Amino acid sequence: MKKYLITGCAGFIGSNFVYYMLRKYEDILLVNLDKLTYAGNLENLKGTEGDSRHVFVQGDICDKALVTELFQKYDFDYVINFAAESHVDRSIANPEIFVETNVLGTVTLLQCAKEAWYNTEARTWKDGTKYLQVSTDEVYGALGTEGYFMETTPLNPHSPYSSSKASADHFVQAFHDTYGMPINITRCSNNYGPYQFPEKLIPLMIHNVKQHKPLPVYGDGMQIRDWLYVEDHCKAIDMVVNGGKIGEVYNVGAHNERPNILIVKTVIEQLRNRLRDDSITEDLIRHVEDRLGHDRRYGIDPTKIKNDLGWYPETPFERGIVLTIDWYLQNEEWMNHVTSGNYQKYYEAMYKGK
Ligand code: NAD
Ligand code: DAU
Repeated sequence: MKKYLITGCAGFIGSNFVYYMLRKYEDILLVNLDKLTYAGNLENLKGTEGDSRHVFVQGDICDKALVTELFQKYDFDYVINFAAESHVDRSIANPEIFVETNVLGTVTLLQCAKEAWYNTEARTWKDGTKYLQVSTDEVYGALGTEGYFMETTPLNPHSPYSSSKASADHFVQAFHDTYGMPINITRCSNNYGPYQFPEKLIPLMIHNVKQHKPLPVYGDGMQIRDWLYVEDHCKAIDMVVNGGKIGEVYNVGAHNERPNILIVKTVIEQLRNRLRDDSITEDLIRHVEDRLGHDRRYGIDPTKIKNDLGWYPETPFERGIVLTIDWYLQNEEWMNHVTSGNYQKYYEAMYKGK
């Protein structure tokens, strides 16, 4: 039985990953270490209740004593680090926590894995172990109108968020280059799907449309993101951890580039039809002040993961967006819970004066 330490899996992608892995593998242990920040939500993991293959531990990836204890208790084969502060706008408002979790937290995990898996005298690593860092296309910076991010594209991050993720990537690479640690790094494009916190574009727009609230589009709305259905990302992570060549970086993306304004218009149209509500129109759109340092375009070249591991995206955007909107319509209670309390304060502070 393979034993995984998975971090940050009460969040969006992590919780989807837990369900993906439990569906796919009978014989598996997933120990899920999550601090339960504003973005972590045990409601995301309700479907794991009573399943002994998933163990939840509330805690911080920066807590070395706790992580060491977990390694001693479970003798992990794999570490997959999803845990992060993940929202670019929050990183612009408050960069420090991004350094703590995304950089120091990653280094703590690397150190604990090294202490558990590395034989210092023989300079060998325990067989079959691997550390996988879940990174992002944002570490590459922004593209012009042409070309794609390749694994060989130099890192050139712009926001405090992407800078912290790039720094973490350098540390992961450094543990490989210096100590020979068995690692992989995945760099994925924008995910969408169930359980995404409504500070991010698609769930925020769904939430606001349903309430007939203004839809804040930053600047001209012509920034381009490359959208991937979350389950396709989960599949890629599983393939990389179980088949990726040691030391390699894999880009993950579906060649599904769209300007933000088109995404917003798609959400409007879908919800108008689904809810049979003609008052849901593009008049809800408000062009607001642009994000500082806003990257204009991201676009992933996924050739390497396709050729080397046989990964391919299974969910076209037209289907994925319907699945996503259906999920949010069917999970009103989830949305009500996450948008009550502090969410209101966050929303007012983030969009005030814009
Ligand atoms: P998220 O914000 O939804 O979830 C992050 C999770 O990490 C939360 O459950 C939170 O409680 C937990 N966490 C935060 N700080 C922690 C700490 N110090 N210790 C333990 N747990 C902590 O994020 P997400 O969108 O699911 O992203 C997951 C990972 O994937 C991140 O590393 C992110 O950089 C990366 N990524 C995200 C996307 C995307 O489009 N969302 C795309 C590519 C890569
Ligand atoms: O590219 C991968 C990254 O995608 C991940 O690494 C990040 O963790 C994830 O948050 C996401 O970053 P983005 O900044 O691209 O996602 P976000 O949903 O915040 O914004 C998507 C685009 O929509 C971006 O160009 C900003 C714009 N936007 C966003 C919000 C929240 C708006 O125009 N209005 C909004 O209200």
